[in-house]
Amino acid sequence: MIVVPGPASPSLGKIIAKKLNAQVISVNLKQFPDGEYCLRFQGKLDGEEVVVVQSTGPPQDTNVLQLLLMLDAAKEMGATKVTAVVPYLAFARQDKRFLSGEVISAETLVKLIQACGSDRFITVNIHSENTLKCFRIPTENLSAITSLAEYFKNRGLNGAFSLSPDKGAIKWAEEADKVLGGGCGWLKKERDRYTGEIQVEEKSLNVKDRDVIVFDDIISTGGTIARAVKMLKTQGARRVYAACVHPLLIGEATQKILQNGAEEIVGTDSIPTSVRTVSLAPLIAEALAR
Ligand code: R5P
Repeated sequence: MIVVPGPASPSLGKIIAKKLNAQVISVNLKQFPDGEYCLRFQGKLDGEEVVVVQSTGPPQDTNVLQLLLMLDAAKEMGATKVTAVVPYLAFARQDKRFLSGEVISAETLVKLIQACGSDRFITVNIHSENTLKCFRIPTENLSAITSLAEYFKNRGLNGAFSLSPDKGAIKWAEEADKVLGGGCGWLKKERDRYTGEIQVEEKSLNVKDRDVIVFDDIISTGGTIARAVKMLKTQGARRVYAACVHPLLIGEATQKILQNGAEEIVGTDSIPTSVRTVSLAPLIAEALAR
C-alpha cells in the first residue's frame, strides 16, 4: 500500500502511513503566476494500492480540485485500487435543496469523487450520512467523538456532561457519554436559510457546578458553540470545553468561543489548525488495515 499525503493533509497523511508501515509518495505542487498549479507524484504508482489523503477544508475549491486531480491521475497511472481518504468533506452541509433552486453540492462532490476512479471512500463524522447513499463504491464514515471523549477522560474530566448544540447532533453527545458517563443532552438550534443567522432556544439544563463538554462535528464561525457555552455558563456550569472533529475556525471563531467562557477548544487534525489536539491517524489507519 502506498499513501499519498495530499497538499491539504501532509502531516496527517504521513502519520497514517507510519502507522501502517506503508510507503509514502509525496506530491509536488508547482504554482503558476496566474494561480493555476500542477501536481506531480514523486514516485511510481502503477500496480500499487494507493491511498490519497486529502481533507477539503478552506480553501475548499482548491482542495477539492487537488483531490480530484490526484484520484484521477493515480488511476490513470495504473494504481490497482484507489482509496480516497477525505477526513473533512467540503460542502457536506449542503446535502439537500433547502431553498428551491439551490444546488445539492454534496451530491455533486460524490459524483466527481466517483467519476475520478475512487474504489473506496473514507471520511470522518460526515455532516449527514445521507450523502454517503449517493456513492456506489464502498464507503466508511468513521467517528472521532470517542477519541475526543477519551482525551477529556484522560485529562480528568470523567463524569463531565456531554452536550450537543443542536438536536441533530445528539448522536455525538450520546457517543461521548459512553466514555464520560456524566449524562448527555442537546440544545435546539434554528438557522435562517436566507441570512444564515442562528438562534439557540433557551433551555434549562441541570449543569450547575458541573463540567460540560460541547461536542459538534464542525466549528465554522464559532457562533453555535459560543451560544451554547454562554448558556451553560449563565446556568452555573463550572468548566465548559468545546470539542469538534473539524475545526474550520473561520475569522474570530476561537476568540468568540473563549470570550464566552470556554476553557479550551479541542479539535482533531482533520484540519491542520492550532487546536488539532487529537489525531485521526489511528482511526483511519485501523480502517485502512481492515
Ligand atoms: C451544523 O449544523 C454543524 O453541525 C455545526 O453546528 C455548524 O457548522 C457550526 O457552524 P458555526 O460554527 O458557524 O456556528
